Amino acid sequence: MKISYREAKELDYQLILKLDQAAFCRQFDCPFKTETEVKKYFKNSKIFVILQNNKVVGYYSYKPEDKDTVEISGIVVIPEYQGKGIGSIVLKKILNDLNNIKTFWLTAHPKNIAALRLYFKFGFTITGWKDNYFGDGQPRLILKK
Ligand SMILES: CC(C)(COP(=O)(O)OP(=O)(O)OC[C@H]1O[C@@H](n2cnc3c(N)ncnc32)[C@H](O)[C@@H]1OP(=O)(O)O)[C@@H](O)C(=O)NCCC(=O)NCCS
Repeated sequence: MKISYREAKELDYQLILKLDQAAFCRQFDCPFKTETEVKKYFKNSKIFVILQNNKVVGYYSYKPEDKDTVEISGIVVIPEYQGKGIGSIVLKKILNDLNNIKTFWLTAHPKNIAALRLYFKFGFTITGWKDNYFGDGQPRLILKK
């Protein structure tokens, strides 16, 4: 499986919106509705488009907080490509690329079993619960590594 990446540019916000709406389509999810929401959420994040054999299959993003801390602000693989190991390859890459970082943290919905299993596999643990974290009425777990 040939996975490659390219850094997202301003022009890619529409693409990120589409990928997000394709992936966050479950009962508990609330995907972005507009490009403006995407821009706002990813302010200060670095976003990378994920390609498999040159086809766009998702994106990932992270937000440096200080010299020791990074928030992984998104990992998304579109449904047709999920469960094939791409999320694991991407998370491993993030952790390797940023191996000088002491603390990684992220949020996940408590019902997002696939995401939680992925993060547990890489040593993340649950450190908190936030009600209505994104203002969508849904809770999120805080995970750290
Ligand atoms: C979470 C996500 C990025 C995982 O990507 P992926 O490419 O499917 O991940 P992988 O194939 O590498 O699987 C990683 C682990 O997740 C778990 N997993 C994957 N799909 C699963 C499913 N449908 N049900 C339960 N567990 C699942 C497995 O434990 C797997 O580990 P294993 O292969 O060692 O058993 C992907 O499901 C996704 O994009 N979901 C929608 C967006 C999202 O929720 N992002 C995370 C926000 S916090």
